[in-house]
Amino acid sequence: MKGYHDIVGDGGSRVLEQVAEQRARITDGLAGVRHLVAVGSGKGGVGKSTLTLHLAGALRARGLRIAILDADFNGPSQARMAGVQDALFVPGSHKIALPRTTNGIGVFSMGSLIPESQALEFASTAQGESHTWRATREFALLGEILGAVEWGALDLLMFDLPPGAERTVQYADYLGARTSFLLVTIPSAVSRGVVARSVAALSKGPNRVLGYVENMSGYYCRDCNAIKPLFISPEPFDSAQGRSSGLEIPCLGTVPFDPELARHCDTGIPLAAPETLVGRALDHVAQQLLDSLESTTEPPR
Ligand SMILES: Nc1ncnc2c1ncn2[C@@H]1O[C@H](COP(=O)(O)OP(=O)(O)OP(=O)(O)O)[C@@H](O)[C@H]1O
Ligand SMILES: [Mg+2]
Repeated sequence: MKGYHDIVGDGGSRVLEQVAEQRARITDGLAGVRHLVAVGSGKGGVGKSTLTLHLAGALRARGLRIAILDADFNGPSQARMAGVQDALFVPGSHKIALPRTTNGIGVFSMGSLIPESQALEFASTAQGESHTWRATREFALLGEILGAVEWGALDLLMFDLPPGAERTVQYADYLGARTSFLLVTIPSAVSRGVVARSVAALSKGPNRVLGYVENMSGYYCRDCNAIKPLFISPEPFDSAQGRSSGLEIPCLGTVPFDPELARHCDTGIPLAAPETLVGRALDHVAQQLLDSLESTTEPPR
């Protein structure tokens, strides 16, 4: 039986040239983007998608040009959250134009193409072996999207990552050193433990980890306009007392759980309430993110 190393050449497929062509198309398409930020965690359900959209909203309100690529192809949530579920993809001047939210954020999400009643399928002829191809096909799809969309001139392109510490590293590897990471945790030891693993895994590669956001950091009671405790964890983050979260990366801020924010996510209407406690918290994190991006030197492309 022939082993992998015995295969000589590409059998006429021009696979190496095709990969190089796609890479060049992606580099070219992203040339007008100032910052690339992947919002990840490792942990699922901690608010990566919510924060991606609402940090984008806070930065958009300052006049920045922002787009979001929902990189969670199997469980896309940006289409619903951003209100672009029924958006049509139309040709732009060169490539595909992005659908936009009512506040002007460009969003690519599989949820605009596939209804929630359907799963994303990757056809496989080998029964019981589809898992071996799935990751490869997902990243091939990511490459296609990156190369096919007209990103144009942007201040920030945000990638809303799927859960999983391993997948966080796979995205870092695929997206390359230009992409910085913002990690999201909730104030539980379980969540911090998983995020710590993502930090450890990312530290082996060249990507900058800008810091983390602690989401669901207390519960915002609108009736009493106060933050009440939500998680009673052994070592809560307390910026006033300077207590550590156990994560060895900067904390860019905390965002409380606000039922109104969850409702806005479900209905796809952007939360436009910068004067509320949660609005101010999001705005603070957005500023910290911006400061962090502007202050760190860009690695070579
Ligand atoms: N600060 C918050 N206030 C209110 N609701 C929130 C907050 N953060 C997240 N949520 C809600 O919690 C749920 C999970 O959030 P979200 O989908 O953003 O998490 P995720 O980390 O992206 O999940 P996944 O790992 O599946 O991608 C959503 O319904 C969202 O609206
Ligand atoms: Mg998500």
